[in-house]
Amino acid sequence: MSVDVVILAAGQGSRMKSALPKVLHAIGGKAMVQHVIDNASSMEDAAIHVVIGHGAEKVRETLTGQDVQFALQEQQLGTGHAVAQAMPNVTGDSTVLVLYGDVPLTSPETMKELVSIAEAGDFGLLTVNLLDPTGYGRIVRDDNDNVVAIVEHKDASPEQLAITEVNTGILAVSASKLNDWLPQLSSENAQGEYYLTDIIAMAASQGLAIKAIQPETEQEVQGVNNRVQLAELERWYQLRNAEALMINGATLADPARVDVRGKVEQGNDIWIDVNVVLEGDVYIGNNVRIESNCVIRNSRIGDGTVIKANSLLEDAVVAENCDVGPFARLRPGTELANKAKVGNFVETKKAVIGEGSKVNHLSYVGDAKVGNNVNVGAGTITCNYDGVNKSLTEIGDGAFIGSNSALVAPVKVGAGATVGAGSTITKTVEDEQLAVARGKQINLNGWQRPVKKS
Ligand code: UD1
Ligand code: CA
Repeated sequence: MSVDVVILAAGQGSRMKSALPKVLHAIGGKAMVQHVIDNASSMEDAAIHVVIGHGAEKVRETLTGQDVQFALQEQQLGTGHAVAQAMPNVTGDSTVLVLYGDVPLTSPETMKELVSIAEAGDFGLLTVNLLDPTGYGRIVRDDNDNVVAIVEHKDASPEQLAITEVNTGILAVSASKLNDWLPQLSSENAQGEYYLTDIIAMAASQGLAIKAIQPETEQEVQGVNNRVQLAELERWYQLRNAEALMINGATLADPARVDVRGKVEQGNDIWIDVNVVLEGDVYIGNNVRIESNCVIRNSRIGDGTVIKANSLLEDAVVAENCDVGPFARLRPGTELANKAKVGNFVETKKAVIGEGSKVNHLSYVGDAKVGNNVNVGAGTITCNYDGVNKSLTEIGDGAFIGSNSALVAPVKVGAGATVGAGSTITKTVEDEQLAVARGKQINLNGWQRPVKKS
């Protein structure tokens, strides 16, 4: 049996006070609607439909290239009307699961449970009990405890308002039944909208069993209407990420001060200090230490490496037992071999730094191939850019680059060569040679400094 997932994402979300459509606001660095799509996609053979309206073009653009079908709801005439817009694209004999682009964290397990209820021929409905049910549709049950209707807050009687079991909006039922019910919806209600919730009473009157299930946590069904709710959900999501890091072998100085905006693969015995952000695809090996205020983006960190405070790694590969930072910036294309050291105020870009090599202080190493056991002195700069072209600097094994040198690329410094401090190197230095390229020092005797006239 096939599943068609209909994600409602046409609403304006005016309380976000934003030019960005609400469903594109992010949780953990990922658009809310993308969370919904990704979680739904974990169901095999699920066809995904997104109903768009407000900010339709931006939503479409953000999701281009993905296996989703869009249905445009030009006017937001209600949730029932929204689902109806997607139905022409839905297979007639499939099961429909309705989700919301602004309810980002519904779990795949909950989705599957609802779908299996619908696949068995019943109506799957996700409800939750709230201490304060204000604003939500109330679940009305008969004397035998069967669900018979949903009544929207604005249409509810005083007795119905006292009901604390509410509609999350998330439901699953067969497409054929939806195709039967949706055209029968009317907008004669307090909000003048075509309520999806009115299909519950239709289902009940046809004797269909309405099976209400509850989510494992309230956050699974938490919608986002403003930035306060966005932040609440973000914190909850991040605590789950922090728990996963800990369960999988990382000690966190403070689980409330690590953020994951992507996927982390990790080893054991990791230590992570406060205010660390892990973004994109990150790998952290065994016995890695990451000190405070580091950002690790799409990077790999090998076993035993230490990333000291205030460092930023981006598309970098750091091997084992390396020492990075504090205040290091490893830009895309940086590769450190085992035991390499990149120290404070050093920037690297497209730089391969060999085993045991050191770039310890205040340097820029870009478009460079540095061999093993090289010492790059403080303040060394690879002059890789002439305003048009980027050129390569190559430094052989065991070379020693004196402090404050400028290596004007393209240029090669051979293995075992030495560059004197303060040199500007523009020509190849052969293996084992000493290159000194700076003004010669002159010492004059009897020099008198000018004297001020009184
Ligand atoms: C809806 C439910 C209510 C439930 C609540 C849970 C209905 C009639 N009511 O109420 O029972 O307790 O959700 O949060 O379904 N949308 C569209 N097109 C539209 C209207 C809405 O795409 O024409 C989307 C919105 O963008 C939003 C979602 O559907 O993501 C819910 O719409 P909203 O108007 O917020 O419904 P509620 O009044 O909260
Ligand atoms: Ca709502």
